[in-house]
Amino acid sequence: MSDPAGRWLARTASDFRADGVAPLAAVATLALHGRAPSDLPGWCDVVDHLSGGSASALDPPAGVPICDLLGPLYELMLADAARRAAGVHFTRPALASGLVALAVGARPAGGRAEGAALVEGEVALDPACGAGAFLVAVGRLLVANPTKPSDPAAHPPTANEALSRLVGADLDADALVVARAALARWALDEGGHRVGVALNEPALTCCDSLTQPEELVASVGDHAVGLIVGNPPFLAQLRAGTRHDAERRASLASRFGAAVGAYTDTAALFLLAATELISVGGAVCLVQPRSVLAARDARAVRAELVRRTEVCAAWVGDGGFGASVEVWAPVLIRRGARVTEVRVVGGAEAEHEVGRVPADVLRQDSWGALVATAEGLPALRSPTGRSAGRLGEVARFSAGFRDEYYAMLELAKEAPGFDGAAPDEQMADRALPAGYAALVSSGLIDPGVCRWGRKPMRFGKRPWRAPVVALAALDDPDHPGATWARRQLVPKVLVASQTRVIEAAPDGQGRAIGLTPVISGVPDGIDLAHLLAVLCSPVSTLAVVSAMAGSGLGRAGVRVSTSVLADLELPVHRAPWDEAAALLAGRCSLGSGVDPSTMQAVRDLMLSASGIDDGNEVRAWFETLAGPSGTN
Ligand SMILES: C[S@@+](CC[C@H](N)C(=O)[O-])C[C@H]1O[C@@H](n2cnc3c(N)ncnc32)[C@H](O)[C@@H]1O
Repeated sequence: MSDPAGRWLARTASDFRADGVAPLAAVATLALHGRAPSDLPGWCDVVDHLSGGSASALDPPAGVPICDLLGPLYELMLADAARRAAGVHFTRPALASGLVALAVGARPAGGRAEGAALVEGEVALDPACGAGAFLVAVGRLLVANPTKPSDPAAHPPTANEALSRLVGADLDADALVVARAALARWALDEGGHRVGVALNEPALTCCDSLTQPEELVASVGDHAVGLIVGNPPFLAQLRAGTRHDAERRASLASRFGAAVGAYTDTAALFLLAATELISVGGAVCLVQPRSVLAARDARAVRAELVRRTEVCAAWVGDGGFGASVEVWAPVLIRRGARVTEVRVVGGAEAEHEVGRVPADVLRQDSWGALVATAEGLPALRSPTGRSAGRLGEVARFSAGFRDEYYAMLELAKEAPGFDGAAPDEQMADRALPAGYAALVSSGLIDPGVCRWGRKPMRFGKRPWRAPVVALAALDDPDHPGATWARRQLVPKVLVASQTRVIEAAPDGQGRAIGLTPVISGVPDGIDLAHLLAVLCSPVSTLAVVSAMAGSGLGRAGVRVSTSVLADLELPVHRAPWDEAAALLAGRCSLGSGVDPSTMQAVRDLMLSASGIDDGNEVRAWFETLAGPSGTN
């Protein structure tokens, strides 16, 4: 929350802490600000937590509803470790309202009055409601929208009526105390009823929403669930401190089956669970970490979501989230009308549309295109035909590990004839001597050309001019790495790691060994020039950057991996692909290199081969990234 409320909260939390006030006592004090304890309903148990004393010192900022300050105050007062372990990062009220409105806007009309959040009799659920930011947001939308505008006698529900349509669950009983206080305070201040202490009680249950679904079902009762909204915990399974213990993992596996991998983020499982509870025509909108868009371990979840629901819209956050991870939120409709384009909205409050993504894209492995659109990457729209498959079906990609790197370091020497010579372009005609294999680092690889022998490199923390290994040294079957190195000596492309665009250079005679983390791609069904052409295509770079945008790493350049390269789509049109390969075919020897004008022609042909509808946009984007010559 920003100033002045943010500054006030920070100061108040620090004063409370200095006075030794416990988090719930602080919340209770604020919840009662300006009210008599008897104003709050009995179910809102804050009075039990009142410590007394500092209440009179509070001066909350004018114009900010008290109910919006309770969750943030509680969060600020929790110790960091406790907050991290439970994934407690409450959502800003304005964002919660924006996401609820986005979800409601995507629902089909069926039985619902225009603009109304819920059909008569439906409830809204937040399965990890924390301090209740989303439940308050739903309440606000309910009282703002009449359920039957066509009926002159109809009135929007009062805040008190709205309370009985709200269902929340959380593992943390204290957070539920805060949620109760926030909802009670909201309903009191909303003033849509006159009863004071006789407020309806929202159904708030303390349970594990993932492993105790029966508790959730019981608190929903006979009602249909029209909306499931919230910001479930992000418990990335790779991070110590947030990992599930074995028992819980087993219980999740038995509930979600094959969809739960060892590293599937908990937040993704909340999405799956929500699609089981939501009624037909209902909307699910749960905030997710970016990794869920692209992570391998969330792939089964993504596929299942597409099977069960229509992905109608997505909010792609623009940072500023307490959890210090980049976030997004899909809007899923159970059995909604068939969607052809997914609306992507951005902004701190999900307030503006930033683009549209063809719904078919979500049938692919990664949903990174949603973030790519929000980040201004060109959309890969409507290919005029079908791709012939994936690059991994016609090429094998591999890379060495740390052991191979050190094994090569042990055998490396300067190439005979190169020692003492200044490494520069004049050495271009100095060839790799017979009986040796060139050792190639990422830094030597530029688009279409390997600069081994022409550019110095660092290897094992020291500079080298032209490092090689003697082939004879690789005959020793006992040498660690020798067998691996021998296998590298085949015609292939070498792909650099961490560059601005994909940089791949050919080694047509199989005379080079790529040093970890260089990836080698061996054709297996196409020829080397066709493989190189695909890797040189601006569309391939765009596909990698788009997929990476989904992992929240998009701005770090292209981080190729063997799986990312294998996932690249093959071109749609064969003739321009053949033409591009023909241009490259005579230039596939190590060090022969592709000149910039040939490379430009190859890229243009590959844009045509991809069948995308706006090659110019992709070309312009690629050139901004790579520079017009494409050689950085
Ligand atoms: C990121 S906070 C968000 C709370 C609230 N939805 C919001 O947006 O402000 C996540 C909440 O999930 C709760 N939580 C964590 N694991 C849970 C589980 N398995 N079942 C229910 N709640 C859980 C935490 O206690 C925490 O309050």
